[in-house]
Amino acid sequence: MNEELINNPDLSYQLAEQKAAQYFQSLYVQVKQKTFIPTLTKDIHSWKQNHIHHPILSFFIRGKRKANSNGYYSYIQWLDYMGKLDSYLDRSMSYIYMRDLGKSLESPDTQARVSRVVANLKNHLTQNDANKGDTKNDFSMYGLYRMAQKEGIESTMIWLINKLKRVSSNIPKGMDAEQAQRKLIKIIAGVIMHVNEEMDNDVSSESRKQKLDEAIRLGYSYGLTYPFIDDLLDAEVLSDKEEKQYSNLIRTTLITGTVPKLGEWTGTNKNLIKYIHSELREAFEYIRAHQRPETLTSFFEQSYVFFQSQEVDRLKDLSNPNYTNEELYIPIILKSSSSRLIIRSVISAPEDEGFDHRTFFYGIYNQLADDFADMFDDMRDGAVTPYTYYLKYHEKRPDLINPFELYWTVIANLIHNVYHSDAKTCEVMLDRAINGLKRFKEKWGSQKYNEVMKLFSSRNPKFNSLIQTMVGKADDVDFFDKLLRDHMIANLKNERKEQEKFADTIKIVRKQINDILLIPQSEDNDLMKNPIIDAANYSLESDGKRLRPIITWVMGINEYGLNKSAIMPLLKSLEYMHTASLIFDDLPSQDNASIRRGRPTLHRVYNTAIAELTGLFLTQKAIEEQASLDQFDTKTVLKLIQYTAQKTEDMCKGQVMDLDSKGKKLTLDQLNQMCFYKTGLAFEASLLMPAILAQASESEMEALKKFAYHAGIAFQIKDDLLDVEGDLSLLGKSIGKDAENNNSTFVSVLGKNGAQKAMWDHYCFAVEMLQEVPRNTNFLKHLLNYLVNRDH
Ligand code: IPE
Ligand code: IPE
Ligand code: MG
Ligand code: MG
Ligand code: MG
Repeated sequence: MNEELINNPDLSYQLAEQKAAQYFQSLYVQVKQKTFIPTLTKDIHSWKQNHIHHPILSFFIRGKRKANSNGYYSYIQWLDYMGKLDSYLDRSMSYIYMRDLGKSLESPDTQARVSRVVANLKNHLTQNDANKGDTKNDFSMYGLYRMAQKEGIESTMIWLINKLKRVSSNIPKGMDAEQAQRKLIKIIAGVIMHVNEEMDNDVSSESRKQKLDEAIRLGYSYGLTYPFIDDLLDAEVLSDKEEKQYSNLIRTTLITGTVPKLGEWTGTNKNLIKYIHSELREAFEYIRAHQRPETLTSFFEQSYVFFQSQEVDRLKDLSNPNYTNEELYIPIILKSSSSRLIIRSVISAPEDEGFDHRTFFYGIYNQLADDFADMFDDMRDGAVTPYTYYLKYHEKRPDLINPFELYWTVIANLIHNVYHSDAKTCEVMLDRAINGLKRFKEKWGSQKYNEVMKLFSSRNPKFNSLIQTMVGKADDVDFFDKLLRDHMIANLKNERKEQEKFADTIKIVRKQINDILLIPQSEDNDLMKNPIIDAANYSLESDGKRLRPIITWVMGINEYGLNKSAIMPLLKSLEYMHTASLIFDDLPSQDNASIRRGRPTLHRVYNTAIAELTGLFLTQKAIEEQASLDQFDTKTVLKLIQYTAQKTEDMCKGQVMDLDSKGKKLTLDQLNQMCFYKTGLAFEASLLMPAILAQASESEMEALKKFAYHAGIAFQIKDDLLDVEGDLSLLGKSIGKDAENNNSTFVSVLGKNGAQKAMWDHYCFAVEMLQEVPRNTNFLKHLLNYLVNRDH
């Protein structure tokens, strides 16, 4: 290897290993002596005063309104209603300060910070609809973007949204996509929290923005290692050979501080690896550039320890009966502590001995809690964890430490030796421990739970029965981060499912629309063959997205219950009008475009005169179709045709504004107006027409118009963006047309970045408008996402 070494991996690993061995030794002595039993028995007896209510009282409390802990919002509301929200958030945030920020709850400063965070969070969670469903959208692109606007970090958020989108589309089938996304988001949130903690209260707003920007980028850069190093190597995606090659690549990175060139890659996952490689390369460069020299080494040292200890664990084999306790536990101490110790070096924070000390001891607690919860999944996957190994070998290997006893030992050690018997720490840790058992029992059912307890806990019958009483009777031990976690996974899963459904709908409806679109030639007389029909069909059979008739179809049939065959003419008319508008738009007198829908434009294939006549022909054909909507009331159809005519007139106005803008710099108002007229109106029409036929209320139509206004402009901004950054082969039309024509667009006026912000702002307004539409708006929500995320 000729790269410069910034890390002496063996030495740093050995040193870390020695320290972990000492810690393990002290735990070993404690677990053998079972010191946790008297200590925790005493602790639990005083703890339970606050958690076991008098039977009559608890009957009242439970009877009042059953909390549905599956529903995130209703659960928070229920807690608030019961007057439990403060203590719930307080224990949750205290725990997070301890676990994620490595703080000690003994410190009055930490207490004060926790209180402040709890107050803010409570305020956020309990604010009502005055803030347009703020809380309900916490996890959506809408929520993220609006939050970014409040902090003035829109560009950073746009960057992140795009990154996350790419990650999610690149997660291979053999990996748990939702878990991978959740972990990445969690790391980013963790880094933001750390940076927030390091920030002074009187930091200037400019500097706050800059720090948040860095935090998000650093969080993403570091967070990537979870799905794309750890999870990927855990999953069965790479072949053995690929896995080896990939893990060597990572090792070299951690030793040299730079992601090396990818070189030859022969496996089947070449494209995936190429993407990951370029992403990691960028990420490590970013991290490196943001390090101080002192933290750079420690960052790579910790990362190496983290990676190496994971590797050691990964290579373990459940069929090997000979692992020693040391071999089982030391890598766990190492990986669980290094993963958290890294964070401070990622953000280049000043050294904090207290943090390092506490975090080092804390890690294994978390790992043992997680491994307990995942015991059966790990067993199924053949993964070696203290629990799976003990399950398999406890009879043959009496020397094996019982991991459940070790778990309690770690808890007792943390409370009394690391956190100096602090009362709050004791309270929170016991809440968490009892909660972990409750969750396990809920997930796997009583029978399985009892079997597990029998195996792990029956050697200490008195202590066991105390714990089981607590698991059965104690209340108020649940945590916000767990609720968030469950909610996020459910949300991500649901989102993915809905997205797939949306894509299916689009695909199926598009095909059906394609089937009815072409205009038949009259068959009786060949001499009468109309060349305009051929020209029209040339344009119609090209590869258009058919968005406008698709919208009408889904809303008309699914939401308004209109009859499919009855609205066929309307669907055709929408695509005829739209296609006509494209034919005109491409003419030499307008945008002078040579490619449309992946083929030469109509005037290039025929000539300008034919193209003009075909445009006219198609707009008339559209009216002809509308006039044949004979299954609807005549007055309604007349209203529809009148509406169509008016909107077509307005679209012409929009095109004129566009052509007139050449060489000018339009104001934002003018840009919005132009885009609404030339593009937004067609979207409005596709929503309003089925509403007109279904005789929807005026207020509903108003809401649809407002939605269409913002969605339509967002669509056109995306079109302007694709004109500068799109890909001809995907887009089916030439890139750079706007600049060539010197058009005034969102991009030319605001720049790419400004245009993106404007697009997301319109996106957010459109989401808000959807709340006023008195229908199931799921389709429209996904349509909107598609409009701004599309690549063609
Ligand atoms: C293109 O519309 C014209 C604009 C309003 C920007 P589409 O992007 O919907 O075009 P097709 O129908 O898919 O070709
Ligand atoms: C055109 O906008 C809008 C209409 C066709 C009415 P553009 O001129 O930007 O559309 P493209 O990019 O050519 O499709
Ligand atoms: Mg144009
Ligand atoms: Mg054009
Ligand atoms: Mg365009």
